[in-house]
Amino acid sequence: MSRIVLAYSGGLDTSILLKRLILEGHEVVAMTADLGESDHPQIELEAVRAKALALGALDAVLIDARERFVESFVTPALHANALYEGLYPLSASLSRPLIAALLVETAHAYDAGAVAHGCTGKGNDQVRIELGVRALAPHLTVRAPLREQPMSRTDAIAFAREQNVPITHTLEKPYSIDANLWGRSIEAGILEDPWSAPPEDAFAWTAAPADRPSAAEDVVIAFDAGKPSIDGTGGAGMIAALNRIAGAHGVGRIDLIEDRVIGIKSREVYEAPAATVLVAAHKALERLALSRDELRFKASADQRYAELAYDGLWYSPLRDALDAFNAVTAQRVTGEVRMRLHHATAVATGVRSPFALYDEGLATYGKADAFDHAAADGFIRCYGLPLDRLAALRSVAVPS
Ligand code: ARG
Repeated sequence: MSRIVLAYSGGLDTSILLKRLILEGHEVVAMTADLGESDHPQIELEAVRAKALALGALDAVLIDARERFVESFVTPALHANALYEGLYPLSASLSRPLIAALLVETAHAYDAGAVAHGCTGKGNDQVRIELGVRALAPHLTVRAPLREQPMSRTDAIAFAREQNVPITHTLEKPYSIDANLWGRSIEAGILEDPWSAPPEDAFAWTAAPADRPSAAEDVVIAFDAGKPSIDGTGGAGMIAALNRIAGAHGVGRIDLIEDRVIGIKSREVYEAPAATVLVAAHKALERLALSRDELRFKASADQRYAELAYDGLWYSPLRDALDAFNAVTAQRVTGEVRMRLHHATAVATGVRSPFALYDEGLATYGKADAFDHAAADGFIRCYGLPLDRLAALRSVAVPS
């Protein structure tokens, strides 16, 4: 009899999986991670543990990984302004390498030789979890029973009835949902037609247009070497609070046709109020405190960072190297950004920093102007020298 650690959410799919692995003759340890906001409130996580034990798990562990998620995954991604394909803050993507690490750690604690997850063969999450486990503990076997032997909905329900797996209301849900404190993703159902506008019932964290306050609300985000806080509070608690504040204004709805790792395009809808506000604020402060060259270089490095996180290559030397680069730029990302939340927008309306490279004396159009206007003339003469030669050649090459 071999021992397997299963990434267990408490939903129907992973509950069936748990049963299937037991019927195959394994001892199953269910591992459930709390990564902040989910569609299930905090109190239900204990019920998830109890459910795993009732289904026959050898043990069920519940790991509060919220601060670790923020510290080691969300914060580095924020330093990289990580938005996949320019829009998606990578909420699900960032959580999978952590889940992989938790599976590995639980496997060590229980002396298990294998881990299992409930991903199907079509998504990105199988790639992220499996590459994560492989990078951290190559000796472990990874099982993906829903990919090995996919089950139709009807068969799943029949199996659940037969094996006394409780069938919860999740069945009636028209979407596939994944949520943690960095965002909520909504897939499937009517959203599979890219022409259908997302119905209001797809959203749970962001207010519908009619319910958004007519007055704007300002939130001041402070950054200390790139680490955000609001009124002195940072970490998971601040992010959860900001999800509520910005969500009430409808901020953070994202709808994109996304390129999955496995090569297919899919339509994905997200709600990520806090991530949207924090990335915008972080970018605004960087624009004030970082040099032009840093910003230009960082824009392409940031895009690469988001791709690595999305593509399941979190545990890669390039990501480590980019983190080291971002750690240097982050040293001067200290200051405050005033974000104005209003009707689904989050706009930086003010920014200040002790490391500001902005110099009002140089920038002003007023009387205090300290800029040497004559110097611009000489600058343009030198700067344009290559163009003079090209212009002369052009007049030779083009016959009249
Ligand atoms: N498309 C997103 C991503 O790949 C969301 C995935 C959500 N995962 C899920 N199992 N529903 O990061």
